[in-house]
Amino acid sequence: MTNRIPHIFSAVLILLAACSRPEQAPQVISVIPEPAFVQQTEGVFHLDSKTPVYVDFSDSAMLRSVAFLNERLQKAAGFTLDVIQDDPLDHGTEKGIFILNAGWKKEAYNLQISPSRLLIEYADGAGLFYAIQTIFQLLPDAIFADSRQKGVRWDVPCCSIEDAPRFSYRGMHLDCCLHFFSIDFLKKYIDIMALHKVNRFHWHLTEDQGWRLEIKKYPLLTEKGQWRKETVIGSLNSGFYDGTPYGGYYSQDEVRELVKYAAERYVTIIPEIELPGHALAAIACYPELSCGLEDHYETATKWGIFKQVYCPKEETFKFLEDVFDEVFELFPSELIHIGGDECPKTSWKQCPHCQALIKKLGLKDEFELQSWFIQRMEKYINSKGRQIIGWDEILEGGLAPNAKVMSWLGEEGGIKSAQQHHEVVMAPYPKYYLDYWQADPESEPLAMGGPTTLRTMYEYNPVPEVLTPEEQKYIIGVEGCVWTEYMPTPARVEYMAWPRMCAIAEAGWSSRSKDWDGFTRRLEKHLGRLDRLDVGYCKAFYDPFIELHKDTTYSKIATISVDAPDAEIHFTLDGSTPTGESPVYTGPFVINRQQTVKAGAFRDGKLIGNIKYKNF
Ligand code: ACM
Ligand code: ZN
Repeated sequence: MTNRIPHIFSAVLILLAACSRPEQAPQVISVIPEPAFVQQTEGVFHLDSKTPVYVDFSDSAMLRSVAFLNERLQKAAGFTLDVIQDDPLDHGTEKGIFILNAGWKKEAYNLQISPSRLLIEYADGAGLFYAIQTIFQLLPDAIFADSRQKGVRWDVPCCSIEDAPRFSYRGMHLDCCLHFFSIDFLKKYIDIMALHKVNRFHWHLTEDQGWRLEIKKYPLLTEKGQWRKETVIGSLNSGFYDGTPYGGYYSQDEVRELVKYAAERYVTIIPEIELPGHALAAIACYPELSCGLEDHYETATKWGIFKQVYCPKEETFKFLEDVFDEVFELFPSELIHIGGDECPKTSWKQCPHCQALIKKLGLKDEFELQSWFIQRMEKYINSKGRQIIGWDEILEGGLAPNAKVMSWLGEEGGIKSAQQHHEVVMAPYPKYYLDYWQADPESEPLAMGGPTTLRTMYEYNPVPEVLTPEEQKYIIGVEGCVWTEYMPTPARVEYMAWPRMCAIAEAGWSSRSKDWDGFTRRLEKHLGRLDRLDVGYCKAFYDPFIELHKDTTYSKIATISVDAPDAEIHFTLDGSTPTGESPVYTGPFVINRQQTVKAGAFRDGKLIGNIKYKNF
């Protein structure tokens, strides 16, 4: 009995220490994406209900950004800050938050934080918004909670931060056609993007498997085109279908609401209306848009590439121009995505109209016909003051004069386009394809291919080195692609997208050189924020990744890695569950066909993730 007392006593001490730690210890700064310059100094700036916010001038953008700060404080801390419009210089000796418009580079901001002052200097509305996103990440994670958090000290570590984006285009895509997602989910998606200073939402709205955007002039597009009669189960060629009609679309009112919501968070929505391929849902509604080679057209029920594409006739151009007229009304974005990918030439080869058109225009082949199609649409879109962006295949048969290219087929298209002085967004598969596996496919849900691990994504350099410094300037940004073949639910989207999208966001924003170790340390802290925000990210970060590499007929080389920093991998080869006492992995080793590699990642002898195994 006697020795229980010290145990209880030390347990209470440990508990007290654990409870008070977040209140006392200044946060180690761990912002994602990493700012251009960070220097932490002594002490903290403490925020409470009496902290004033002085602003030098107020407009709606500035007030909105401060309102975002107050909104989070209200929820998590139970207080808001008073905003006082006055010359901050008159209050130089007071404690408080000072917001000054410094008017430099777009989207840039600086923070100078001492125990008595939190000074924000910003260039424009976006800069102030991003300064506040950084402040959220300097505060305890609890700031992201949506209910009142007791016992938290709202301290910001003292520091200097200077920050500005590397690229103007920092994008995240979501395919809402293969699967459909609610406006509420899209708002959450945009919130999380904005936290990562991602400023372009590429909204994939039309496809073979469903048309999702209300177009008043062509009501069938959504009345009928939103539907497919069933959906393939398992991988795309499984041959099994669920027998359940699947649909969903966005009304124009919903679109306007989302566009406004995104704009308030400095996210521009770029709509994608696919042409000339991936058009089967539209053709199923209006068969006259096709080459007319088939009696019956139906929205696709599995994933892939379909030969039923738009026929380049006047009727089709009239339809597309009408559709784009409504798109221009809904989306203020200067850039409009016209798809352009994966357009088989099968129908055009058999279509008398298409063949006559090729002759009449003096074109070489169907590739040039595609280029002519896109150039014609570009002319129309340019005439309305907008610019087109399209996937790599718009290079086939020659790029339209003002087109920007979204490079997805590896890097080649991006390189060619930059060499031709066309602006490029790098979204290469598999490096930036978030529908690829992120961990061992054997223990992950179905995905498109891969794996493309967090580390692979992080280490990818989106500016190809073969480009000259002059050509490199045509790379205007990056984008993470979320094709939803195998993501039927919001939970699956979040699982596939995060935390890998953190790596892409960092490539888009941060001009710092890559530092995997530093990134994983910051990311581990950042995962706590994603937890608070209820983002169902993949936790493979803490799991060992065992790979067996072919060597001889009778043996393989095993390698094991883990993303979590400061973790030790322990493994066994006899089928037993590894513990902190099992051998430590130090490098590649040979196994033979009798063996199972089982591994876990440990810190201080404690397992931090899941045990993983692989059989020879
Ligand atoms: C694409 O993945 N087809 C752009
Ligand atoms: Zn045709």
